[in-house]
Amino acid sequence: MVRGGDGGRPRVFVARIIPDDGLGPVVEACDAQVWQYELPPPRDELLRAVEGCDGILTLLTDRVDDELLERAGPQLKVVSNFAVGYDNIDVPACTRRGIPVGNTPGVLTETTADLAWALLMAAARRVAEGDRFVRAGRWRTWGPMLLMGPDVHGGTLGIVGFGRIGQAVARRAMGFGMTILYYDTHRADRAVERELGATFVPLDGLLSSSDFVSLHVNLTAETRHLMNAQRLRSMRRTAVLVNTSRGPVVDQRALFEALRDGAIGAAALDVTDPEPIAADDPLLTLDTCLVVPHIASASWATRGRMAAMAAANLLAGLRGERLPTPVNPEVYD
Ligand code: GLV
Repeated sequence: MVRGGDGGRPRVFVARIIPDDGLGPVVEACDAQVWQYELPPPRDELLRAVEGCDGILTLLTDRVDDELLERAGPQLKVVSNFAVGYDNIDVPACTRRGIPVGNTPGVLTETTADLAWALLMAAARRVAEGDRFVRAGRWRTWGPMLLMGPDVHGGTLGIVGFGRIGQAVARRAMGFGMTILYYDTHRADRAVERELGATFVPLDGLLSSSDFVSLHVNLTAETRHLMNAQRLRSMRRTAVLVNTSRGPVVDQRALFEALRDGAIGAAALDVTDPEPIAADDPLLTLDTCLVVPHIASASWATRGRMAAMAAANLLAGLRGERLPTPVNPEVYD
């Protein structure tokens, strides 16, 4: 850890090294303690590090709850999360203390939609499996039956959660001539539906009619295990499930069983439950399951924009100004 700056400046804890677009302004303006390691601070270190801080810049691996807020102390002015999702933060606990919480919406929408598409295409057309096949020296000739999968173009895409990212995924599907279905707890504007050619359907109808299902919901008590055994098994036997939302949205044991039994065709996951997935998790024994390590927003440009936004939220909170992107604007009422 480094402790920068002089006495009079606000004290902050930054829970990991983030791109310079964000770290630079924070270190310049604050007495910043930056966690320097690849792995997140262990809980006891995190609790120690936040003591007496005016601001905290967290990642989705850092749990912010009553215990942490108490340890930080009453001078804490802001929690800025370097992510659009904030299920690691007990937002009501922050709100009760009048502490604004910031996240990084908007800047990672297109990059995340790109990765959802990369996963969809890779799982459908067996890209990772093909690569493993070649590296294992198993490619002997052009095979008329080799590594076949479903067509992506012209298929039906079901999008679960039709917010910014879900809509960006839909926009890409238009170029593939797909039928686009979506489900959300709120129906989108008719103008958005028309623009994207997307049809609002109940979740069960979406699951039984889609060749590809892509998840874009926040993790909440209602969406935990949204994709349970029964829903997974209501999907088409050839269907591909893509998850770039949060791991616990899918019941991972049920997913393993559905893939193992051929109840669905394939799955491609950017997120798992827990993260990281254990190297001996049964899912990783299946060629029909593709897993990448939570990298949906990992383009150079987007991670830079996320860092800048997280810094802007942190610094605004320290100055007592409204955060550019608060998740609990009710603290200002
Ligand atoms: C990443 O998962 C994020 O929420 O930004």
